[in-house]
Amino acid sequence: MPTSYLRPVRLRRAVPSLLVLGLALVGAGACGTDAPEQATASDGPSPVDASSAPPTRQSLSETDVPHSARSTGTPDDEGPALTWYRDISPMVERHCGSCHVEGGQGTGDFTDPDTVSAFSPAMINSVHARRMPPPASDPECREYIGADRWVAPPDFTERLQAWVDDGAPLGSPEDHVPVPPIAMRLDNPDLEVRLPAPYRPTFSDPANPGNEYRCFVVEHGQDETFYIRGMAPVIDREDLVHHIVLFKARRDDVPAHDDWNAGYDCIDMTFFVGSGGVGDLLSGDSGMISAWAPGSQAVHFADDAGIRMDPDHVFIMQMHYFDGSAGNPQPDLSGYEFITADSARPNIIMAPFGPTGFRIPAGAENHTEAFSITMPLNLHLHGVMPHMHYLGQSYHMWFTERGNEQCVVSSDAYDFDNQLTYMFEEPIRIRAGSEIGFRCTWNNSPSNPNLVHDPPVEVRYGERTDEEMCFGFALISIN
Ligand code: HEC
Repeated sequence: MPTSYLRPVRLRRAVPSLLVLGLALVGAGACGTDAPEQATASDGPSPVDASSAPPTRQSLSETDVPHSARSTGTPDDEGPALTWYRDISPMVERHCGSCHVEGGQGTGDFTDPDTVSAFSPAMINSVHARRMPPPASDPECREYIGADRWVAPPDFTERLQAWVDDGAPLGSPEDHVPVPPIAMRLDNPDLEVRLPAPYRPTFSDPANPGNEYRCFVVEHGQDETFYIRGMAPVIDREDLVHHIVLFKARRDDVPAHDDWNAGYDCIDMTFFVGSGGVGDLLSGDSGMISAWAPGSQAVHFADDAGIRMDPDHVFIMQMHYFDGSAGNPQPDLSGYEFITADSARPNIIMAPFGPTGFRIPAGAENHTEAFSITMPLNLHLHGVMPHMHYLGQSYHMWFTERGNEQCVVSSDAYDFDNQLTYMFEEPIRIRAGSEIGFRCTWNNSPSNPNLVHDPPVEVRYGERTDEEMCFGFALISIN
């Protein structure tokens, strides 16, 4: 992550937020505390901690040995404990392969054993520091679709190190069990949309080199109301598309801008907010629909559930471009594909759960805000996108079932650059009378490399990137 520069601060006119206008689900029960957060997942010392040991000349030259000179195991002995084909390649492919491939946005092609052995100190370091794979919700909290890819197993670094120490043996190609591809695309989409025109990112923001957040209004072209039953991104430039957040809005509520083909700068995501107010959101007229990053799977809604799109709705695609093109970005024409239906039961809406109106004191290293509400209705929870800004460290969503707390999504390593929608295999059933809660912890002190204002200032709730948010955007159906 580029962390050494100041994050961009965009001071924009305040936009009235329907999220704060007393939405029934939001605003009650917030309570601030500066109490240190409970220690959750451990990141304790590990037998192979390379984080303090940068690659030495010796270790690099050792791993520079070409394949042919390496041990491949002899037929007489049992062969090396770990080989590239049997053990390392599938492991790396599963957890890193969605980005670290030729033409992908991650640095280096990890399908190549020489690259992996030479790069292993940095890989081990990045896994220990929990930068890679980019942090995601803890599957111990609750399994979600794709968890087996997003979280590296505890012995990932030990195995990689042991293989390198053993001379990075290739083993036999016959031992290679291919990793099943991620079902990123839909089998039978019936609607595809694309950006209004090919867009070449300019990466011209000096405060945020190599990154660009751009929003495009994308028309669906349908004359009748329809329902989204499944969706998946269509990625054109894999070396540029870092992640996508998809929204729906009424066409009239979209912020005005000059050149619709070129989109508009939208790091602040102010378009969450339509002009329609609270009713709009609860009626499902605006809001986030999906957040995607490489390695996320296509979304299918369970049963006959779907998201309603009216003729006067448009999609807004927020593209986060990251320059993986070695300085020569080509025009991108990404889009989204959908499985649609004329009707759906139940209707899925996006409901934000989280505290508002809070203040995070300057210098607070561990500031937590929490929110909870008793649900008056039965509902099903299909998926959740946790959302904070740059100071966010951890989040936790829960609900009560007959008085017992159940975990929904949770992480102690929030990453603004890797926001995902966590979709559950089975929608979670939440009965009327249950409580639902969401809490966030921020680090507004100099120990946070992503600090927006340095030295730190008090940060308030708000939509701008130099303000903070704390929402579990939940895809729910009332039933
Ligand atoms: C979702 C995409 C994605 C996945 C999955 C992923 N990476 Fe990365 N990785 C990136 C991107 C993008 C960069 C370059 C920019 C950056 O540093 O954020 C990167 C950079 C790196 C770097 C160099 C910078 C650093 O932070 O050390 C290493 C090493 C690395 N990745 C290792 C891994 C390993 C090991 C895995 C698997 C366990 C992995 N990555 C999985 C996207 C990914």
